[in-house]
Amino acid sequence: MSIHEKYDFKILDMSHFVEAAALWKQTEGLGLINDSVGSIKNYLLRNKGMSFVCIESSTGKVVGTNLAGHDGRRGYMYHLAVNKEHRGHGIGKTLVEMSVEAIKKEGITRCIIMVKTGNDGGHEFWESIGWKRREDLNAYSVDL
Ligand SMILES: CC(C)(COP(=O)(O)OP(=O)(O)OC[C@H]1O[C@@H](n2cnc3c(N)ncnc32)[C@H](O)[C@@H]1OP(=O)(O)O)[C@@H](O)C(=O)NCCC(=O)NCCS
Repeated sequence: MSIHEKYDFKILDMSHFVEAAALWKQTEGLGLINDSVGSIKNYLLRNKGMSFVCIESSTGKVVGTNLAGHDGRRGYMYHLAVNKEHRGHGIGKTLVEMSVEAIKKEGITRCIIMVKTGNDGGHEFWESIGWKRREDLNAYSVDL
């Protein structure tokens, strides 16, 4: 059975928030700091049609998410998560490809993902779908 027979891929909107937030909470390896309804709503408004969910067709359950957008120069991905029971079927790869296509249509030519050190599965995923690990960069942040 092909992935598209078992799963539906849709643009992520606020109707998915409760289920998506529950998935993020139970998923290892995500850096979740400020995921209020307001912050996600704001993000989706600023980045329309670039974030996607995967829904299991038989149950209507959200089993995967990818938040994505751009700042006018670079694309960024956040909160790529696939429910443990549904991993290894190409859902993560499909969600990323859909976001990349949407971002590309906006004229953006490079996307970036921050992966926590120690998230070995995450690192392997990005490398196996062809993203290049940057050895020349470290991330910095400040709380405002
Ligand atoms: C990373 C994650 C999203 C992958 O989702 P998935 O739907 O299982 O991934 P896919 O089935 O699309 O896999 C795509 C490729 O990545 C590889 N891959 C996926 N997870 C992997 C892992 N843990 N270790 C090694 N390779 C992995 C697959 O083998 C596949 O390679 P192939 O196309 O050559 O067969 C999922 O494991 C997850 O939610 N992890 C926890 C959250 C996380 O780490 N998110 C990323 C944060 S930056």
